[in-house]
Amino acid sequence: MLHVAAASLHLKRATLQPNKFFTGIAGASFLLLKQVNQINFRTMTTKQIELVKSTWVIVALLDPVVVGQLFYNRLFEIAPQVKPMFRSPIEGQSKKLVSMIAYIIHKLDKLSEIIGDVRKLAKQHVSYGVEPAHYLVVGNALMWTLEQGLGKHWNDETREAWVKCYTILSNAMIEAAAEPMAKVA
Ligand code: HEM
Repeated sequence: MLHVAAASLHLKRATLQPNKFFTGIAGASFLLLKQVNQINFRTMTTKQIELVKSTWVIVALLDPVVVGQLFYNRLFEIAPQVKPMFRSPIEGQSKKLVSMIAYIIHKLDKLSEIIGDVRKLAKQHVSYGVEPAHYLVVGNALMWTLEQGLGKHWNDETREAWVKCYTILSNAMIEAAAEPMAKVA
């Protein structure tokens, strides 16, 4: 069951703030970035990992196409400039996105196993024309979507756990995208 009207009252609290990657990404420090060989989810507490996993179970019960449509509609509303990058039918995109999130969440406590996949996904995104700043708008659309799907299960604690999870993941993707091609074997 979606709680669109009730949840939209809390929209402001679900907003991600730019962090050092989102704000300083264009700098020369790009050249100094080391290869990402692990995703450090250690800044998430055990409780936050549990919260992300348990709330994802609720969202995963919803139709992925409905969840995807909420997400993409929201994304194109807040960032219409990214719309031309999405060429495949949204139904397929939605399923892929939901299954990728499910996969990452399933591996939250076995992260060394997924860094190769995250790196590959990041490189794929560069070829779509995705830039570091886009991670912020996508993150905001994702938080909004989760808020709709979770209804009464969405609160400050849940939001904080998801924001942390997404920020760590998107930072890893931004770093991996900036790695020289030769290193991304
Ligand atoms: C943690 C963040 C993200 C995850 C987990 C993610 C996941 C995915 C996945 C699984 C796919 C399908 C890849 C395939 O076809 O094999 C995809 C495609 C795509 N993503 Fe992302 N994505 C993320 C961030 C972003 C961002 C920030 C943008 C920028 C707008 C973006 C734009 C796209 C585009 C344009 C496509 C291809 C669409 C098409 O083929 O029509 N993604 N993403």
